[in-house]
Amino acid sequence: MFLSRISLLLLLLVLFTQCKENNQAVDEEKISTNELAYSEPFRPQFHYSPPEKWMNDPNGLVYHDGTYHLFYQYYPEDIVWGPMHWGHATSSDMIHWENKPIALYPDELGLIFSGSAVIDTKNTSGFGTEDNPPMVAIYTYHLMEGEKAGRKDFQTQGIAYSLDNGNTWSKYEGNPVIGNEGIKDFRDPKVFWHEESSKWILVLVAGDHAKFYNSDDLKEWTLLSEFGKDIGAHGGVWECPDLFKLKIDETGEEKWVLLISINPGAPNGGSGTQYFVGEFDGKNFVTKQAGTKWLDYGMDNYAGVTYNNVPSGERIFIGWMSNWNYARNTPTEVWRSSMTLPRNISLHKNKEGYFIKNYPLKAFGKIGETAFESVESISLEKPFEKELDQYNDTDISFMVDSSKNYAITYSNSIGEQVCLQLLGESKELLFDRTRSGIVDFEESFGKAIQKQKYTTENKKVEVRIIIDASSVEVFIDGGKHVFTNQVFPKHPYTRLEIAGPANGTVDNLRLNKLASIWRP
Ligand code: FRU
Repeated sequence: MFLSRISLLLLLLVLFTQCKENNQAVDEEKISTNELAYSEPFRPQFHYSPPEKWMNDPNGLVYHDGTYHLFYQYYPEDIVWGPMHWGHATSSDMIHWENKPIALYPDELGLIFSGSAVIDTKNTSGFGTEDNPPMVAIYTYHLMEGEKAGRKDFQTQGIAYSLDNGNTWSKYEGNPVIGNEGIKDFRDPKVFWHEESSKWILVLVAGDHAKFYNSDDLKEWTLLSEFGKDIGAHGGVWECPDLFKLKIDETGEEKWVLLISINPGAPNGGSGTQYFVGEFDGKNFVTKQAGTKWLDYGMDNYAGVTYNNVPSGERIFIGWMSNWNYARNTPTEVWRSSMTLPRNISLHKNKEGYFIKNYPLKAFGKIGETAFESVESISLEKPFEKELDQYNDTDISFMVDSSKNYAITYSNSIGEQVCLQLLGESKELLFDRTRSGIVDFEESFGKAIQKQKYTTENKKVEVRIIIDASSVEVFIDGGKHVFTNQVFPKHPYTRLEIAGPANGTVDNLRLNKLASIWRP
């Protein structure tokens, strides 16, 4: 009797395990045949996310021969961070993406951390020919054994090249090209061709500052200068630098912009990106900037960098839409995290100095279809309400009375909501995701309301809010003020409410319904 019970239990266990395995097998098959792919709960419908497993920083953003390449920090074995590879996806329009095989695998020099890619048009490296110029990736090697042994020199810089537009890669046998003399955090090289000095320039971060190098051939690097020890935010380690020139549209004035991600120490907690506007003469970066400037006041735009070689000359930026505070804990199962929408970065100046805006590329508008457009201005005597499609892009413009308060709220049938407030009284913008859906997977995710100083004048304000299955991107005044955030609502937000002073109006409201880039 006793024995037969045990055998029955064993039989059930075997059957259960087989069932589970079969289910998994079916799922995997469906994922690989694209049937199930990109339809899971919270799966972004028009942002890039990997088909499965863990992703962090965008890497090697480069355009070549009609193709935009997006490489990224990837761990193909799990949905938490692990030994880093470079994943790869390509796009011809910066809207639709095609997943490609893994580009770079760890080797005996270490894991493959963040970095950049260039097209070596003049074949200065000798890896290709002028007719078939090599694509060269410059990245950080992270040697786990060195770190575990308590050494400080475990991060070095290496290069690899591809002669078939990023499909297959060879590592340079002379790696590492920049060794380490004992700096614990020494990583994330961004390389670009500097026309004025006819050299390759490399900027990387070393704990609390950036270091600049130059080279003729991408193999031999000379240290030129350092920047940042006593300027800007230092609440955490500096990561993922980027350096590029921008022109102010209105005046034609040119300046250099240095992006530096820091973790922790962002204005609303955890990971964030600061920037400096200044001059770069091929050797030194200098700035007169006082105080810290931030690219985004939301909690989910980190490690963002820009494309090399974009033919239109646009400065296109992509960030990782997560935060190291809770990146490992977000409630997705097949994959983890996505990228921000590709955004155009532009330079501007007002009486407080230089600042940059970041705003979705014009091309993004193509996947939308106008679902509602106001013909007359809308009175705010009582709050304006409207039903929405589940993925949407909202454009609102209104004359703001700088002493009054306004609130834009998106909610669903079970009371989950996100809310943007423009507070004239306290001169602040607030973004609240405390009741946005699932928030309890980590303490800081849904705790605090995000804030940003907002110098209101009596003027027309433009607000654009783009909502995907697990993100809300808010752009105010063409990207001057931005909040990028992940959210995990149990149902999509399908109700919009705009509230303001009784004599207020919304001058223009356009609701765009967005189509999936992954599925028909
Ligand atoms: C930024 C970062 C980089 C590093 C990479 C490792 O998120 O910490 O500094 O190269 O991630 O995956």
